[in-house]
Amino acid sequence: MLTDVVDLLLCPQCRARDVESGLDVGDTDRTLVCDRGHSFDVARQGYVSLLTGDGGKFTGDSAEMITAREVFLERGHFDPIAAAVSAAVPAGGDAVLDVGVGTGHYLAAVLDARPGARGIGVDVSKFAARRAARSHPRLGSVIADIWSGLPVRAGSLSAVTCVFAPRNAGEIGRVLAADGVLVVVTPTSRHQRELRGPLGLIGVEEDKTRRLGESLSGLFEPVAQSPLEYTMVLSHTDIESLIGMGPSARHGDPEARSGALAQLPDSVEVTASVTVSTYRTTGQRRRASASL
Ligand SMILES: C[S@@+](CC[C@H](N)C(=O)[O-])C[C@H]1O[C@@H](n2cnc3c(N)ncnc32)[C@H](O)[C@@H]1O
Ligand SMILES: [Zn+2]
Repeated sequence: MLTDVVDLLLCPQCRARDVESGLDVGDTDRTLVCDRGHSFDVARQGYVSLLTGDGGKFTGDSAEMITAREVFLERGHFDPIAAAVSAAVPAGGDAVLDVGVGTGHYLAAVLDARPGARGIGVDVSKFAARRAARSHPRLGSVIADIWSGLPVRAGSLSAVTCVFAPRNAGEIGRVLAADGVLVVVTPTSRHQRELRGPLGLIGVEEDKTRRLGESLSGLFEPVAQSPLEYTMVLSHTDIESLIGMGPSARHGDPEARSGALAQLPDSVEVTASVTVSTYRTTGQRRRASASL
């Protein structure tokens, strides 16, 4: 719930003017307020939007994509990835932020393994924020655009996780404590390779992990890098969800894809292949953007 993490949040209106003002729960529990009088409505579904100005140019995943992601993740096919993310977050840390939190699946796994910890789930999609708000009782769900900055106190977090999502190295470096860690999951070029040719899915760029390292260099130093590869056995329904939750949902011809899917066997062996990378901050602070 937002009350679990409100002491870690900053007013985005004040931040836009380079003033750091914390947020507090308002009189009615339906708002978060800063001491300069800015007020943010808590949605009925339990999340708060801390977007500033015109809301930025990113809208994030659609309702359909988030539903497809929820259906696919509940089938457990990515559970080994959730377990690896949770294992990579050091024990003892009490405040974890997940950037591009999606349905909250990965942050909920981290919090489940740490009974005292609380989590902030940040996503620019209101559909993701809605779903993340009910994914775990100790998770506070916030709409924010990572490229406009995180509405979070400097040096306040023990870990930041980022799973298949965009990241802003300067902002993540700012909000992490000096001994905090960043855990990033990137797909390798073998991820879901069996589906690419037959279904025309968008491929993963080569060398995503190396480019991740380059984008973080200066601000972060690598601590560990673990490959994780296994075979999933997917039904046609699973594959439809997988397509619906990813970038291919917005590209290609859905009819041609359905036809191609019908040609595949009832269950298809598909590779899951990712790298789980852990970084520490170097202590340098800069407001910089880095994405992959
Ligand atoms: C590929 S999904 C991954 C979601 C989740 N981490 C998972 O793996 O299930 C990428 C997520 O990043 C979010 N996102 C995209 N652009 C963003 C931005 N500028 N700021 C914050 N979140 C963003 C999307 O809305 C989406 O939920
Ligand atoms: Zn304010």
